[in-house]
Amino acid sequence: MSKPSPTSPTDSPDSTCSTELAALASHAAKACEWRLTDLFQQDASRVSRFTLEAAGLCLDVSKNHVNDETIRLLTAFAQTRGIERWRDAIFQGERINQTEQRAALHTALRLPASATLTVEGEELVAKHQRELDRMQAFAERVREGDWKGYSGEQITDIVNIGIGGSDLGPMMTVAALRAYAHPQLRFHFLSNVDGHATVATLGQLNPATTLFIVASKSFTTQETMLNAHAARRWFLQHAEEKYLSQHFVAVSTNTAVVQAFGIATDNMFPFRDWVGGRFSIWSSIGLALMVAIGSTHFRAFLSGGYAMDEHFRHAPLNTNMPVILGLVAFWYREFFKTSSQLIAPYHEDLRHFPAYLQQLEMESNGKCVTRDGKPASMKTSPVIWGSSGTNNQHAYFQMLHQGSDLIPVDFLGVLKPQHHLIDQQRALLANCFAQAEALMNGVQDASLPPHRIFPGNRPSSMLLMDQLTPASLGALIALYEHKTFVLGVLWDINSFDQWGVELGKTLALRILAELEDVEETHQQHDSSTNALIARARAALKNS
Ligand code: F6P
Repeated sequence: MSKPSPTSPTDSPDSTCSTELAALASHAAKACEWRLTDLFQQDASRVSRFTLEAAGLCLDVSKNHVNDETIRLLTAFAQTRGIERWRDAIFQGERINQTEQRAALHTALRLPASATLTVEGEELVAKHQRELDRMQAFAERVREGDWKGYSGEQITDIVNIGIGGSDLGPMMTVAALRAYAHPQLRFHFLSNVDGHATVATLGQLNPATTLFIVASKSFTTQETMLNAHAARRWFLQHAEEKYLSQHFVAVSTNTAVVQAFGIATDNMFPFRDWVGGRFSIWSSIGLALMVAIGSTHFRAFLSGGYAMDEHFRHAPLNTNMPVILGLVAFWYREFFKTSSQLIAPYHEDLRHFPAYLQQLEMESNGKCVTRDGKPASMKTSPVIWGSSGTNNQHAYFQMLHQGSDLIPVDFLGVLKPQHHLIDQQRALLANCFAQAEALMNGVQDASLPPHRIFPGNRPSSMLLMDQLTPASLGALIALYEHKTFVLGVLWDINSFDQWGVELGKTLALRILAELEDVEETHQQHDSSTNALIARARAALKNS
């Protein structure tokens, strides 16, 4: 079979992979009947055979409906889909995002300074290292109190203004690496267009000691621009315009619009259009993180991502952590008809990780058209959701244990705490492991009333790390990035565009114009939308 080309992966002789899918379907018909507890009884080495180690992470997938044959069939399907060829293509900077004619080269940002990568005649690593050095010089000045505000005082508060990838990456990582953060600096994240958030955030701040990082790849995103202008107006109520450059810096690919906003090029940290928003934390979008944790830790974060890249590139498919995580997700979605995937981090500092993954996975793989424009034949991204343990146990875990849906869970556990309350850490881990055990084992005791029965046989994976460090966080994010990419290849979709967010943006601008208009509404919509607009206009007129 010829190797599929990255721009037309389905040119292989069996473009539907029907042989592999049929084999998987017949295997799945049996696997649906398996009891997980039986699989453990039949195989004393199950845990070791289904546990993988990579880049400081340990992934145990043994509590899933898989055996060696499942993994063999799934990897055969992945190979027919051209997984190895696609993997090479992404790392080599081929324009695999064909609807935007762009590469997806976030992995280039994690390469060590000693590496080289030439793409379309351009050497990328040295250039990125120079940009990292610029970020570092700025971050260290802020951290050392050398970057002063208009009154000559040190910066105390940093506000990242951005949305989507320009918010979730910095917000999630700054929270996750709290233990490494500068003790005197406070970080705020302004994303929502909702003015309540803007007013509440600005209300806590002293303009003389606040630094705004306006983070937007396009620098045209409505929410970010409205918040940035609100912050600018607020600042100018307290200080003269000549001081703006001490309080506003920008991260963007769009130099012209940044300049038009009034931010000098010296205060701008650029990145390249081949870095997608949801993959941009490794770029200058990570500026807030670098200010928080310092450049040494930021570089360790990049190196953690790189370690996972190296594993993904070189490990055999059947022991490759991102591949296995993707294959297991595909297995349940396609053959067990699951519609959601729960992410349960048992570490409070990872509380924003499920929201981060929502954008990563659902914006990447929430598509219904294949790369060659045909309707996708399989269900694509499930709903990704979750929150940190143990709070989740007292909210929705009831449904996981006794509800009518099968919901695969990824538990994330961190073994060593960064505090001294060891009794609480033991309790946290005990709860994490107990939930996975309970989901699998259930309770089937004939002497109990029906409402006390737990069906069990509910799958989960356990991802462990020793400690939540910059490097392990980098590896964790890269793991899920590659898992997302693997799923895109299996579903034959382009994981790197996001056309589905455009329609709502366009319609919102039309409706905004009508809400701003003092005249009658234009009645251009369906009658429900017209009525909503009329009601809002009436309310706003009197407010
Ligand atoms: O939601 C769509 C989107 O384009 C995301 O992909 C992106 O992360 C976000 O908007 C923000 O875009 P920007 O960084 O250009 O402001």
